[in-house]
Amino acid sequence: MREALDKLFREAKEALEKLAANVDRKKLEEFRVQMLGKKSRFTELLHSLGKMPPEERREMGQMINRARQEIETALEARITAANAASRQEKLQTERIDITMPGRQAPKGGLHPLNVVLADFIDIFQSMGFDVVDGPEIETDYYNFEALNVPADHPARDMQDTFYITDTLLLRTQTSAAQIRVMETRRPPIRMICPGRVFRADEVDATHSPVFHQVEGLVVDKGVTMCDLKGVLEQFAHEIYGPETKVRFRPSFFPFTEPSVEVDVSCAACGGAGCRICKGVGWIEILGAGMVHPRVLAGCGIDPEEYAGFAFGIGLDRLTTTRYKISDIRLLFENDKRFLEQFS
Ligand code: DAH
Repeated sequence: MREALDKLFREAKEALEKLAANVDRKKLEEFRVQMLGKKSRFTELLHSLGKMPPEERREMGQMINRARQEIETALEARITAANAASRQEKLQTERIDITMPGRQAPKGGLHPLNVVLADFIDIFQSMGFDVVDGPEIETDYYNFEALNVPADHPARDMQDTFYITDTLLLRTQTSAAQIRVMETRRPPIRMICPGRVFRADEVDATHSPVFHQVEGLVVDKGVTMCDLKGVLEQFAHEIYGPETKVRFRPSFFPFTEPSVEVDVSCAACGGAGCRICKGVGWIEILGAGMVHPRVLAGCGIDPEEYAGFAFGIGLDRLTTTRYKISDIRLLFENDKRFLEQFS
């Protein structure tokens, strides 16, 4: 019996030694089952104790347990070493490369209309204009009446209006904001008002029932048409480039006298004529004029003392010509493939 135990102990130690360099936890676990498990030779030996005389049984039992214990401790040490080794190996092979670029979160961008508007605001703020806001739902008074367009005035036909009630409507022009500003502020006034406007237009490549304007207004002593020209030329040069030519054509608006329409030389062809400018070399970008004395007076500003100029620019047209966008509808459809080109 004793010999059997000695032999087993030796074999177990040898086997364990052989596993010394082995870092495989599975192999070590197999060894545990084989050597120390329920069906192992150690267990067999313990079972055979029953056949021994009681006085020897005790001593032998202790010896077996001690031998078993020793093997078990050695095995635990191996396992600990194996764990440390595999951890070390992991640290070596699974090193995180912190210099690798991170995963990029998709980035949003400004809508092209807002890109152009931001430039617009920049240009006018640098000339001392404030940015004001006006309501999209307006009264007939601010949208028409106070702008020198009384109820029966033929100029109302120029703009097909969405009425909400007899006196409430969706503003057809940001010009309404001029009145709100002149009613509440005293000159000198220099403001721009960007915003959405609404007209009952059929949708096509150049028309939309919702579009965007930026209104401008300057009121002060001694303001003349030259100031209007200077400001708009400066604006055109900054938006379209310094080589851009600006031309003023006589026109009519009820709220300005005299009134003009302003064209810029086509940025795409430099004035030679192309598809964008429909062959004429010029692109109409805005309406403007000297504020009608009746409009000033209606807001409590003495037209004998003060003069003003105003202009209204279509932001959508400005955007489509600048980016050579062929269809205004692209600005409203929110197609990501289109919008992503501007971010
Ligand atoms: N409100 C005009 C329109 O929508 C544009 C306009 C023309 C605005 C002349 C002005 C102006 O302030 O002076 O067609």
